[in-house]
Amino acid sequence: MNTLDAIIQRRAIKNFDSKYVMTLEEKKSLLNIALQNAPSAFNLQHWRPLLIEDPAQRVAIRKVAWDQPQVTDASMLVVLCGDLSSWESKVKNILGEADEPVRNFIFPAIDKYYRNKPQVQRDEIMRSNGIFAQTLMLAAKAKGYDSCPMDGFDFDAVSRIINKPDHYEISLMVGIGKGISQAYPRIGKLSIDETTKIDRF
Ligand SMILES: Cc1cc2nc3c(=O)[nH]c(=O)nc-3n(C[C@H](O)[C@H](O)[C@H](O)COP(=O)(O)O)c2cc1C
Repeated sequence: MNTLDAIIQRRAIKNFDSKYVMTLEEKKSLLNIALQNAPSAFNLQHWRPLLIEDPAQRVAIRKVAWDQPQVTDASMLVVLCGDLSSWESKVKNILGEADEPVRNFIFPAIDKYYRNKPQVQRDEIMRSNGIFAQTLMLAAKAKGYDSCPMDGFDFDAVSRIINKPDHYEISLMVGIGKGISQAYPRIGKLSIDETTKIDRF
């Protein structure tokens, strides 16, 4: 499938074939496409996806996610979290092998960008995970699967269910599997003139 077809054919699907099984290897391989290829600021890879495999965890999450059937019925469910401290804890692993001039520039630049800036740290997770989620959903489409991004859930309750560490934040969830219902008609799309200006707002 070419990229444009994947972009155009990806839709938010609400009903999945609950009997369809994706192997753990297949799920990891799909995640790996996004993990290895999605862009992130300074390559800091702020994402920390949590794959929910235990049916009891799915049921518990569904109860605090507006009873959305995707949560239990999608073959694959990812709670897409991010690490607020990735800029500090992973920077050496990620950029330690860069050339010295690059390191001399990038380490202080990263420190200045994130240190003591909780809003920036959080924003960065959301930016990275937004791109990660779309990359994952397009990869799923290219492999013949449907998907649904979700933020219709109680973030605090899901945090408790998944034992979210304090230095992680949840961005959204993504369900992936074989869709058994059509997406809603693509209505109400704002036009380029309504949304997009040139040079200044
Ligand atoms: C961050 C985000 C959260 C969303 N949350 C939900 C959700 O909780 N449940 C749901 O059914 N769809 C959810 N959606 C899907 C949107 O409703 C859908 O993307 C939008 O209506 C456009 O339709 P399309 O994706 O089929 O083009 C979400 C989408 C995004 C990007």
